[in-house]
Amino acid sequence: MRYIALVAVPAVLTAAFLYTASDSRQTVSAQDFINLQQGSSVQQGFRRAHAKGFCVYGRFEASGELAAYSRASLFQAGSYPFIGRFSVAGSNPTAPDLKAPVRSLALTILPNTAEQWRTAMNTPPVLAVGTPEKFYQQLAALQNNSIGEFFAANPETAAFRQWRASYQPTQSYATEQYHSIHAFYLVDSQGQQQAARWAIVPKAVAGNTTLDDSADNALEQEFLSRLKQAPVEFDLVFTLATEKDNPQDPTVLWPETNPQIQAGIIQITLASKQENGLCNAINFDPLVLPDGLLPSADPILRARAAAYAESHRRRAREVLMETVVGDKHE
Ligand code: HEM
Repeated sequence: MRYIALVAVPAVLTAAFLYTASDSRQTVSAQDFINLQQGSSVQQGFRRAHAKGFCVYGRFEASGELAAYSRASLFQAGSYPFIGRFSVAGSNPTAPDLKAPVRSLALTILPNTAEQWRTAMNTPPVLAVGTPEKFYQQLAALQNNSIGEFFAANPETAAFRQWRASYQPTQSYATEQYHSIHAFYLVDSQGQQQAARWAIVPKAVAGNTTLDDSADNALEQEFLSRLKQAPVEFDLVFTLATEKDNPQDPTVLWPETNPQIQAGIIQITLASKQENGLCNAINFDPLVLPDGLLPSADPILRARAAAYAESHRRRAREVLMETVVGDKHE
């Protein structure tokens, strides 16, 4: 089943997109991103980024408070199932999870319609840069150990660097805060649009954790044993833009005084290995949105959608080849 699901979806997602930055004539394609991210030792069948992770399942209990701003059916008060995935940045599925600089949560929430809302969120609240070309250069600088020079040459990285200097990783996926980073538009029943970002805010308090620091799967093990005691909960909090905020620019933090709306609670009740979990087949493309949510013009959003499709196409092909011509069916 895992193989069928993984190969069924990507055919429609395979186009090779090319992006042109508004501030330069350089271009970077989805293939360029994935070639760089996978590096020279390809991990067959795995995501080219955030390769290490596991699946989670639960329900989104919508408060109904966001319904005045978005007509999306999943923001009406009610209970909606989701499949999610915790992960760490990087292309190595066996790397020690505690050492990764970024932790992540992706969700696919299923309203009572044919729609889905997919969101893939990271621990930093801002990006270092604001164009796909610069993001590519940042990834290359990380690989070449020249990130210091890259940051110095790009002043828009200031807010990200400030966050990085103050960020203290916690001992659990359950006590991190995960951010949309990009802005999207909430669309109400009259068609009015309001720019917003969102964050998944932990209800659990950091600190009361026993972690096996030496284990490669320390964070995963901690989460699984925590889940045996009780469901893990987060608030889904939207922050509204004011006229002073630029929704296209993911490098700038919005003021803490901006209005916030508690859209509901993400309650995780189950978890499973990604190898046989439903999340493995999902491409958490941030442009899969329900009616009532629209993307902002942030160009990195489009670059992400294209790159995720390319990564998904490659890993799905590898799984298919393994299944069809490998020893599994001989
Ligand atoms: C141009 C910028 C970016 C590129 C090229 C990129 C690339 C990728 C790729 C190739 C994957 C694997 C997709 C798959 O095979 O299913 C991925 C996963 C992921 N990315 Fe990005 N990414 C970018 C920016 C971001 C940003 C800004 C965020 C956070 C807001 C983010 C969060 C994630 C998360 C959470 C996952 C794991 C999703 C999952 O569990 O499947 N990425 N990224």
